[in-house]
Amino acid sequence: MTSQTTIHLTINGHDHSLEIEPRVTLLDALRDRLDLTGTKKGCDQGQCGACTVHVDGERVLACLTLAAQVEGRAITTIEGLAQEDGTLHVVQAAFLQQDAFQCGYCTPGQIMSAVACIREGHAGSDEEIREYMAGNLCRCGAYPHIVAAVRQAALEVAS
Ligand code: FES
Ligand code: FES
Repeated sequence: MTSQTTIHLTINGHDHSLEIEPRVTLLDALRDRLDLTGTKKGCDQGQCGACTVHVDGERVLACLTLAAQVEGRAITTIEGLAQEDGTLHVVQAAFLQQDAFQCGYCTPGQIMSAVACIREGHAGSDEEIREYMAGNLCRCGAYPHIVAAVRQAALEVAS
C-alpha cells in the first residue's frame, strides 16, 4: 500500500488540499490532480523548460520540484497570469503581437520564464534575453520571435 499525505498548495491565489504520495511532482499535481494543464510536460527531466512555473515569484521547473516541497508558498502558473477580467499579462500580449509561437507547446513555459526574466532585470538586450531564456527550448525554432516578444514586453514594463 502506498502512503499518502495531505498537502496544502496555494496556486494562483487559491488554496487547495491534496492527498498525494510524497514523491508526486508539482508538475503532476498541477496537471493530473488540479487540471491546470497549461503547464506543459516536455522532457520531465529538467531539460526543456516547458514546465516552468513561479514559486514566490521565482521560476522553477515543476518537473523537478516535489509538490510537498512548495507547501505554503505562492505558486503561479500560466493560468494565473492574466487578470481576473481576462486582460492578458503584458508578456502574453507581446507573444501574441510578435507571433512568438508555432505549435505553442513551449509557450506557457516561455512566458513564465520571460515574466521572471524581465522581473530579474535580465531583458536589457537580445543577447541577455537569449542567455536568460536559454533553459526554455522551442522545437519549432520560434526563438527570434520569442526574443522580440520579451524585448517588447520589457520595454513596456519599463515605460
Ligand atoms: S518538462 Fe520540466 S524541464 Fe522539461
Ligand atoms: S512553438 Fe512549438 S515548441 Fe515552441
